[in-house]
Formats: sequence, C-alpha cells, structure tokens
Amino acid sequence: MSRRVYLDHNASTPVHPEVVAEMLPYFGERFGNPSSVHGFGREARAGVDTARERVARFLGAAPDEVVFTSGGTESDNMALKGIAFARGRGHFITSKIEHHAVLRAAQWLETQGFAVTYVGVDGHGMVDPDEVERALRPDTIGISIMHANSEIGTIQPIAAIGRLARERGIPFHVDAVQTFGKLEFDVDAVGIDLLSFSSHKIYGPKGIAGLYIRKGTKMVSVQHGGEHERRRRAGTENVPGIVGFGKAVEIRGRDMKDEHARLTALRDRLWDGIRARVPEVRLNGHPTERLPGTANLGYRGVESESIVLGLDLKGIGVSAGSACTSGSVEPSYVLVAMGVPLEWAMGAVRHSLGRSTTAEDIDYVVESVEPIVRKLRAVMPVGAA
Ligand SMILES: Cc1ncc(COP(=O)(O)O)c(C=O)c1O
Repeated sequence: MSRRVYLDHNASTPVHPEVVAEMLPYFGERFGNPSSVHGFGREARAGVDTARERVARFLGAAPDEVVFTSGGTESDNMALKGIAFARGRGHFITSKIEHHAVLRAAQWLETQGFAVTYVGVDGHGMVDPDEVERALRPDTIGISIMHANSEIGTIQPIAAIGRLARERGIPFHVDAVQTFGKLEFDVDAVGIDLLSFSSHKIYGPKGIAGLYIRKGTKMVSVQHGGEHERRRRAGTENVPGIVGFGKAVEIRGRDMKDEHARLTALRDRLWDGIRARVPEVRLNGHPTERLPGTANLGYRGVESESIVLGLDLKGIGVSAGSACTSGSVEPSYVLVAMGVPLEWAMGAVRHSLGRSTTAEDIDYVVESVEPIVRKLRAVMPVGAA
C-alpha cells in the first residue's frame, strides 16, 4: 500500500481510539433518553453530565453555561441570532474573514433589519482592535470575532477586543472552533460572553459541538420544543456524541501542550523545506501568531486545485485555498481580504497538521511538492491561456 499523509486537520480529524471506547456503551446498554426519570435515563444523563463538566473545566466556565449543539455552524447561528432577537434591533460588528457560519448568519440578520459592520484585516489576516473600536455605535448589540481562521491560522487579539466589549457591556462572541482544544484560554480572562467550539476538529465525533453562554447573557432560543439544555436548545441530546466530545476534551487537556510544541516545529519544518526548494512561494498568515499546525502556502502562477490533485495522487491530503464555484475558480475571500495579489492567492494550499503527523510525513510532502509545482508552472502558467 502506498504512503498516505493527511494534512487537512483543520477540516476534520480522526476520532481518537479512547473516544470511540468511551462512546460505545452509549450506543448499546446505556441507550436511554437522558430526560427519562428511570435508571436507563439516569445512566445516559450521567454520561452527559460528566461530559459537560469536562468541557466546562477546560473553558474555566460553570457546567450550566455550556449548551451542546449539532456543530460549530449551529453554535455560531445560535449565538448571533440569539443575541439579535433578544434585543430586536441594533448593530453587530464582525470581520470579513469569519467562517461562513458567522458571515452568512450576519448577512441574514441584515435582511431582518439589523445592521452589520464587517471590519477588515491586515496583510497577515489580523483584525485591528482599534478598527473594532471605531466601528462601535451607540446601538451596537454584539461583537463576533473568531479566535483563529481555519484557512490561514492567524490568531486574533481577542483579549483586547473583549476588553472593548466588556467596558461597554456589549456581548462578545468568539468562534473558537479552530482553537478550542489547541490553545489555552479562559473565558473570564478574555472577557468572552459566548464561545463556539466543535468536537470533530479535536479528535471527537462529528455532529456535536457546543456554545458557551456566560450566565446572565440575554439570549433567546432559536430552536423550540422540549425543555432540553435548560430550554436553550430543544431536542433529545446526542448522548454518544456528547460523551465522546467530553472525552476528546479531557484528552486535549492532557496532550495539548506537548502537541503545540511538536506541531509548531513540524509546521516550520514544512515551510522551511518548501521555500528552500520551490521558488516564488509565500506564507499566507501571521509568521508567529498562528495556529501550531497550520501552514497556508501560496505558489505564484499556479492553480491550487492542480497542486491539491497532484498531491492527492501521491496519497497526500491537503486543501485548496480557493473555492470552485460553478466552473470558475475564485480566490479565497480570506486571502482577498488580506490583500494577497491574485496571482498568489490562486495558488494557495493549506496544510494542517495533527496528532499523527510525523517528520517523515513532512519530508515526504516537501519532496512531493517541488516537481508538481515545477511541472505545473511549465505546462499551464495561470493567466497564459
Ligand atoms: C472557524 C470555524 N467556525 C465554524 C466551523 C463550522 O464548524 P462545524 O463543522 O462543526 O459545523 C468551522 C469548520 O471548519 C470553522 O473552522
């Protein structure tokens, strides 16, 4: 069997074997509905409670401030719409490089009569807290800035933005889907009122995530039904998913620090190796304030999809920094917001490393990239058609 190297951990991660083991009983003997009062229900409830405590401890929060949802997407929607409709009208501040779960929710709120300011970023993909401050209005009802962007990994100055929000009593939402379980932070220290986080980015199962809601934050529920999650999110809980998520979080608490150092070194080995071999390549994102395992590299004059496909033939999984919409290849909106010139943005490739990544994997990727880019540049330079 030929070699396979997965460098797309920002998209999703394999479920940790200890997580699978923890989940299995909840598909079988502990199948009960956690809302049932009998022993079967109580067993399931105990599993949910343990997971909630694990997540809360990791965040420096109280267990009843954690609501389980179906994904980071739902958490983001719940946060923005929950704040908006609890107030009825007003203005939001977010950034141009948020995940679509925030951007599209904000755009939809605009159709419902809310106002939104989308602040820009600098050439490293960093939001300037002063720009957030300048965007504030007397009717600002919420600020939503992500912790780290999935494409480029730049880590935002959320503590400074949190201070601005707190001084004015404005709810501050942070999409931490890419940093939860990877970076240490405390919701109190940073002044966060709402925080989205997801399981499948940290070796937990898919379809389960959470929203931290600080006690006292005025919110309305966007999903109505039973009394689940303290009436904040109706629907029978995804018990095996929640249990697995709780275990994944516990493991991250144990492994995160070592992994941070290891991945940072491997990420830099990748960048150093590629730039030593391939001419006209740039690093997209902040040189240091960046997720430990993320390296978004832009190859001038090549289409990223062609590199992704070339690497796929070598058994390597990476992702393109541009999206193909109805036949025409568009540069990533994140890179456009950063002001990356088109001929570099079209050739952006994201490598995101994880638990299983080794130095040999990185060396294999480095060796594989050079001939692919060289051939592509020779046969189909972008813009030559
Ligand atoms: C920053 C960010 N927010 C939200 C999401 C959506 O999370 P989920 O896939 O759990 O819906 C993602 C997923 O890539 C993300 O990277």
